[in-house]
Formats: sequence, structure tokens, C-alpha cells
Amino acid sequence: MVLRLMPLLLLALSKPTFSLDNGLALTPPMGWMAWERFRCNTDCLNDPDNCISEKLIKAMADKIVQGGYKDAGYQYVSIDDCWLAKERDSNGKLQPDAARFPSGIAALAAYIHNLGLKFGIYEDIGTKTCAGYPGSYANLETDAQTFADWGVDMLKLDGCYANASYYAYGYPAMSKALNKTGRPIMYSCSWPAYIQTPPYDTIAKYCNIWRNYGDIQDNWSSVYSIIDHYGNNTDKFAEIAGPGQYNDPDELIIGDFGITYDQWRAQMALWAIYASPLIMSVDLRNIDPSAAKILLNRNVIAVNQDPLGKQGRRVFKGTIIETYIRELKGNSMAVALLRTTDGPTPVKINRSLEDLGLSVATSYDCYEVFEGSFIGTLSPKDDVSVWLNPSGGVYFMLCHPNPSPSNI
Ligand code: GAL
Repeated sequence: MVLRLMPLLLLALSKPTFSLDNGLALTPPMGWMAWERFRCNTDCLNDPDNCISEKLIKAMADKIVQGGYKDAGYQYVSIDDCWLAKERDSNGKLQPDAARFPSGIAALAAYIHNLGLKFGIYEDIGTKTCAGYPGSYANLETDAQTFADWGVDMLKLDGCYANASYYAYGYPAMSKALNKTGRPIMYSCSWPAYIQTPPYDTIAKYCNIWRNYGDIQDNWSSVYSIIDHYGNNTDKFAEIAGPGQYNDPDELIIGDFGITYDQWRAQMALWAIYASPLIMSVDLRNIDPSAAKILLNRNVIAVNQDPLGKQGRRVFKGTIIETYIRELKGNSMAVALLRTTDGPTPVKINRSLEDLGLSVATSYDCYEVFEGSFIGTLSPKDDVSVWLNPSGGVYFMLCHPNPSPSNI
């Protein structure tokens, strides 16, 4: 009797009660999202090219292919808030605004799939979305099924218009509802951004990515406040990140209006160090070529997409510079030196590799990441000497152990 029960008992013990096992986001997801750049512009009468509509989303999907972003790894094309009609349909199902999405969401998803891309959508766990459209409250299963029927590949689930006590039930419930549809849908939760002490272990069980800070805005103080928040929580955030589960510091604003070229590079480098989703929010129809070059930089993307999925840490915060380090496969290390202070002129910084956190191997082959240029074979005692521009100047370095790990 005992022997016959043994296998069942072992099975019961080894089986987790639930975990989000959809095989998605093994590396940080990459794509485009409407919110930061296009907001809740519903005025198609006066601004037909920029209002939230199927026309805009299709135009961006086309550009993702034509501009080489798809080849570089950008995959998800995501609508944000303000796509919905003000009411559900007569069957209680969600429906898009008929004037702005005349072909319907399934047709839009099919258009995006035909380009070889994936389609993302936005909803809210509460009674309304943040912009006041119908929320998923009390309709989680129905809405999950609607999304699956439409061919949705990613859901961003916001947290407006809900009681704080509801998140711990609602976010897992939607996760289970998505799994139940049988369609793999990458699940982005805003859960931690809405509460004081997020239960990250639980969140990581149910969500692929999660927002944990306020919305990014098109200015450097916003971008830096996010970088700094991640720095202040460096161990907590790094420990919970990994394949299938990533912290999301919000969209890339590279190519928008409010930050400088140096600050664009800083955002890209730090998002790579932090193993962050690379979700652009920019008008790809008229993007500045130097911004496009940053977004398309294969070396930076390779750091971001490192298969270990380890989030980097801030290891030093001084008055002029900060240093960040991320462990990559093969004991390689990515290091970012970031200048946070204002001008007036560039400053020269000398740091030994050891000071930067590289002391495992006897020597390292180091490269500047943006240009891919070889810096040299350096021992941990050797200095790197770099100039950093004011306010967001960044030096981004990748070092491989020499000899390579198999020979160490
Ligand atoms: C915020 C969210 C933003 C955007 C916006 C839409 O709560 O953090 O990323 O989705 O709502 O209303």
C-alpha cells in the first residue's frame, strides 16, 4: 500500500502549486509600445496620423520591419491604453473603439503576425483603465479568452481603479486565466508599482515582467530617477530577475524630444545592464538616424539578451560617477560608467578593472560596446581611462576572461 502511494506522493510533493510556465520572455522581451510617445491621443479628426488607431499601430509594425528593428530582435508591437470602446458589447465582451479600429483587433493582430511580429494589448485589473475605459474587474476569464481568440501575444495589465487588497488575488487570477486559454501570452504586470512592499517571489511566479516604478517621462530626471531607484534596490531586483521573469523599468524614450544623445546612450546601456525589456516608444516613421543606430546596436542588444538573464547591479555611487556591472555567460562582464553630474566639461576618470568589480580572471579582453572597438588585454590591476560627458555621459565596456573560461 505504502509502495503504491509512493509515486503519487512524490508527484504531489514535486509539483509546484502554480507557476507561470509559458516558456516566454526567457530573455528580456523586445518591442514597441504606444504609451510614452503617443499617450491617449484619440483625436483622429485633427491628428489622423498620430491618434491611437489601427492605422498608427500598423504603420509602426511596418517600420519595425523596414527599419531593421525586427532583424535586431524587436518583436512585440503593443497598443497601450485608449484602444477600447467606452462600453463592452451586448455579450459582455471587450470591443475596440469602432471608429479608430474599424477592422477589429483580430485583423490587426493578423496583420502584425503576417509581418512575423507579435501583438501586445493593454488592460487593467480594476473597474476602469487608467484613462477611464472598461477594466477587466470581474471579467478576467472572459477577457483572457477574448485576447486569446483575437491572437494577442502579450498582455500589459495595469492597476488603476482597484483596491490594494485585490492585487494579490487579481494578478494571479489573470495569470491562470491566460494559461487556461492555452495560448502563450506574455504577461506584464503593473502590480508592484501599486503597492508599498511587493511580494516579489509571488509576483515572479505569475508574471513574466513587472513594472515597479512610476511612468517614464521624456526628461533626464525621470530616466535617472528610474536608474537610481533600481540602484537603490540593486540586490532585491537583481535576485528576482532571470529567464522568464524580469523587472521592467518602462519604455525606451530614445529618439523622442526631451533627452540628449548622451542620455539616449545612457538609457540603452543601463537597460542592457539591468536585463530590462527593450520596449521602444518613439515615432519610427521619422526617428533621428543617430537614435535608430543606438536602438539597433547589436552589441548592446547582445548584452541585454545574454542567455543567463542575470540583472546587473550598481556597485558604486559617487558624487560624479556611478558604476554598474552585469555578469554574462562565460564569466564575461559588462560594465557601465555613468556620469550623473551636470557640466560644464567632460571629466577624465581612471579606474582599475578590480575597482570596477573585475577580479576573477588573470586578464580580460575588453571592448567598448557601442563601437565594438578593442580596448586591450588588461589585468585586474590595470586602469581604464575614459572621458565622460556631463549629465548622462556613459562609457560601456564588455570584458571577456583571457584565456576563455574553459581554459581557466
Ligand atoms: C499607467 C501606466 C502607463 C500607461 C498608462 C495608460 O498607469 O503605468 O505605462 O499604461 O497607465 O493610462
